[in-house]
Amino acid sequence: MDFRSLPKIELHAHLSGSISRECLHEVWLQKKERGETTLEDPLVEMPAGKFDYDLDTFFPLFSRYIYSLCNDLSSLIYTTNSVLEDFQADGVVYLELRTTPRAIPSANITKVDYVQTTLDCISKFNASSSMKTHLILSIDRRNDLPVALEVVDLAIKFRDQGVVGIDLCGDPAVGEVAIFRPAFEKAKKNDLEITIHFAEAPQSSTAQELWTLLSYNPDRIGHVIHVPEDVREEIVKSKLGLELCLSCNVHAKMIAGTYSDHHFGWWRETGCPIALSTDDVGIFGSALSNEYALIAEHFGLDRKQTCDLARGAIDTIFGSEEEKKRLREIMWK
Ligand code: IMP
Ligand code: ZN
Repeated sequence: MDFRSLPKIELHAHLSGSISRECLHEVWLQKKERGETTLEDPLVEMPAGKFDYDLDTFFPLFSRYIYSLCNDLSSLIYTTNSVLEDFQADGVVYLELRTTPRAIPSANITKVDYVQTTLDCISKFNASSSMKTHLILSIDRRNDLPVALEVVDLAIKFRDQGVVGIDLCGDPAVGEVAIFRPAFEKAKKNDLEITIHFAEAPQSSTAQELWTLLSYNPDRIGHVIHVPEDVREEIVKSKLGLELCLSCNVHAKMIAGTYSDHHFGWWRETGCPIALSTDDVGIFGSALSNEYALIAEHFGLDRKQTCDLARGAIDTIFGSEEEKKRLREIMWK
């Protein structure tokens, strides 16, 4: 089966984590030529074939390296276009990209500029491509409430340009999620959709945290790894959409064992809509087509089951009914 030509939906992809090493290298070369960077070459910093980033080494990669390299308008535009092209070339027909609004004072870029720039790239791409993309804005767990409310306000401001929801992400070892209640309440009140990184690591999987997060009424949850039985029952009862990421969980050792031990095997029986997703394809190196190939291989899915899995994600997109109709036409052909 050709997994690249299978029409696919990607719902859990972080913009800065989806930039390929080659693209980062090109940005670095251009900056090097202009004498604008003293950073190490991305291909040295993140060698080809190195995917074994764990929760301790993964998050600093952004704050220490990728954000320092992608720190002006031209690199933001170049890398965003490259990410969109990569998803399209992999056979993605609908993408919900997420990003944490980031001000870059050294380049005079505000968070508004950052979101506007990302949306401009997306809207140009949407106009000339069969892949349609929407944007989700992320709150980082290390943020305080005013910053989180700012993210929600940005999402409201840019809703008519393609922002569809709010995400909660970031290092699961950091932060107290209970402080974000007013931000998620405001998002709901303004009809924004909500997705939340959920039970990603043992530290972020206490009963208290998970019930707090469910009380924010998320429409989808991501990862869903370390979930106690009573919380699982609630998720199944509410038929929440699940964003499941395979390679990233295996490489980062977020699950015990390997591909065939992934909790996809458990959730697939529950009737919750599942969107197989990449998380950070630039870091973990497995395109969505490869994630489908791995799932098919390790869970014995035949062609029809694989197509049905891909189609199942339609029900949980944050896009419109019209978009769902378009996807049904493409994916049931
Ligand atoms: P950005 O939001 O476009 O800058 O993408 C990178 C950011 O996404 C990182 O700084 C993290 O906060 C977040 N992120 C990426 N992957 C993960 C993950 O697996 N868990 C939680 N947060 C993540
Ligand atoms: Zn994620």
